Amino acid sequence: MITILGFAGSLRKNSFNKSILRAAVELCPENAKIEIFDLEGIPLFNQDFENQPPEKVRNFKEKIRAADAILIATPEYNYSIPGVLKNAIDWASRPYPDNAFDNKPVAIMSASTGMLGGSRAQYHLRQTFISLNMYPIHDPEVMVPFAKEKIDKDGKITDEKLKEKIRELLESLIAWTIKLKG
Ligand SMILES: Cc1cc2nc3c(=O)[nH]c(=O)nc-3n(C[C@H](O)[C@H](O)[C@H](O)COP(=O)(O)O)c2cc1C
Repeated sequence: MITILGFAGSLRKNSFNKSILRAAVELCPENAKIEIFDLEGIPLFNQDFENQPPEKVRNFKEKIRAADAILIATPEYNYSIPGVLKNAIDWASRPYPDNAFDNKPVAIMSASTGMLGGSRAQYHLRQTFISLNMYPIHDPEVMVPFAKEKIDKDGKITDEKLKEKIRELLESLIAWTIKLKG
């Protein structure tokens, strides 16, 4: 059984990215399990405290370490990733060399109300994976443009093709994780 830790880069209650993450839990193949971690409550990173991180961060790092793979669903804010997501990543990567993400396989999804589906945020996040020493999958790309048309008011995906893509992404992440485990 492959264990995946998922988190969303949005704290918004009705977040489209939280919705696609919840959908991933339902669509997950039988040989894997996704646990969702909510980034709400992580304070702003201050390097003065990186050796004594807050409990929420300690908990986040433990869950990252325990997982075989990571799944991130993120909005795009001003052509990049939200501060909420970067802040959580920065905490979990410190203090050097205690980077909880080291060597983890990872997959990204993004949902946006705009026409590019958060693609620019995905490419910025991929750049961060180099510093984190993570191994992202490249195919398929799950980018959800015009999210309001594909996710209803209850946060359910109404677009069957999107569900299929999320399932493919999970299958790809699981296969990659198994390969890396050797
Ligand atoms: C500060 C801010 C900046 C944004 N910048 C972008 C952007 O660069 N590209 C984009 O496609 N959408 C942008 N949006 C719109 C988001 O796609 C939209 O708010 C989306 O619903 C956020 O994801 P969520 O539903 O998971 O919270 C921005 C929204 C905010 C609040």
